[in-house]
Amino acid sequence: MILVTGGAGFIGSHTCVELLNSGYDTVVLDNLCNSHIKSLERVERITGKKPVFIKADVRDREVLDRVFSTYDIECVIHFAGLKAVGESVAKPMEYFDNNLNSSLVLCDVMKKHGVKALVFSSSATVYSGDNEMPLYETSRTGNCTNPYGWTKYMSEQIFKALCTADPDMSVVLLRYFNPIGAHESGLIGEDPQGIPNNLLPYVAQTAVGRRERVTVHGNDYPTPDGTGVRDYIHVVDLARAHLCAVSYAVSHKGCDVFNIGTGRGSSVLDVIKAFSRACGKDVPYVIGPRRPGDLATVYADCTKAKEVLGFETKYDLEKMCIDAWNWQKNNPNGFAD
Ligand code: NAD
Ligand code: UD1
Repeated sequence: MILVTGGAGFIGSHTCVELLNSGYDTVVLDNLCNSHIKSLERVERITGKKPVFIKADVRDREVLDRVFSTYDIECVIHFAGLKAVGESVAKPMEYFDNNLNSSLVLCDVMKKHGVKALVFSSSATVYSGDNEMPLYETSRTGNCTNPYGWTKYMSEQIFKALCTADPDMSVVLLRYFNPIGAHESGLIGEDPQGIPNNLLPYVAQTAVGRRERVTVHGNDYPTPDGTGVRDYIHVVDLARAHLCAVSYAVSHKGCDVFNIGTGRGSSVLDVIKAFSRACGKDVPYVIGPRRPGDLATVYADCTKAKEVLGFETKYDLEKMCIDAWNWQKNNPNGFAD
């Protein structure tokens, strides 16, 4: 049995589909603070299997204790966390409390029950802004520009220290680049609350008529077309990376870290054009000023994930946009529809 914290969320729900389709049983523990229970009903529709669901906070030690007593947990995938960069600047204590205490309580309860394997959702945001591209797992980390980034950085330190102290422990830190897209059924996808901060949901909501136009945050960067370049990865590819990570976590010891991206960069205009092709109409946009804190170019070197985990992506930007559009047009208001 795999315990999936935050399994009702965007990446968690897609990962549950891949886990269930691969024969794993799953227990999802989520407090639904940024997700909808419908996502798990849709997971059941896609897979024909029902993940066990427990509505609870990962910081609730008693509930967690009961979960580990009730189910034979082989490995934990820890997605649960708050992830909005701007909100983390406004509410730093909420972010440190939620993201760090959830990791601490989880580790403590795992230790009590002798569960030794964990996969953690880290982020490319842990890399310092002064690295050369591509980013390797050995590139400089730290100097985070916001509390959200620090919670990922500090969680990584917690897990590393834990593995040093307990040589039987196994932690796989996955540094995600930019997950976008949706399951090709169009039944699950990204459903951000309020005005999206990230590019793809903004483009998708513009295409479906919920927003007037996309603002491109700067076109004077030192990139081929002047707009920011990122390493977008299809969420289903990212979900599949978790299967490789679980296999690795249960068969190895120690703490290891992997970049999970495609190794290719796409600009903001590349994304808008690919999405326009996917939805069959031009997505309107205007050029605005740069967004504070943004880097010109961020992309991964993914050799380590390929060589050690045996993980490779399958899907390109066109497919990411086709699937994101399929989700958005069938669910213009997300799970609220
Ligand atoms: P999401 O918000 O859709 O999913 C997170 C889930 O965790 C939500 O369902 C939320 O209700 C739940 N949750 C939050 N705090 C909780 C708590 N204390 N107890 C129980 N449940 C809790 O986000 P996502 O995009 O699926 O991201 C999953 C993880 O990956 C997060 O840790 C995020 O920081 C990390 N990550 C995401 C991205 C991205 O671009 N989406 C990039 C890098 C890393
Ligand atoms: C952002 C976060 C990062 C987080 C990641 C995934 C910041 C500074 N960084 O990264 O910490 O890990 O999301 O959640 O917030 N863009 C536009 N118009 C928009 C939105 C974005 O032009 O309306 C541009 C951005 O300037 C950037 C690219 O699109 O060049 C991607 O932006 P976004 O989706 O927010 O991801 P990141 O900036 O990589």
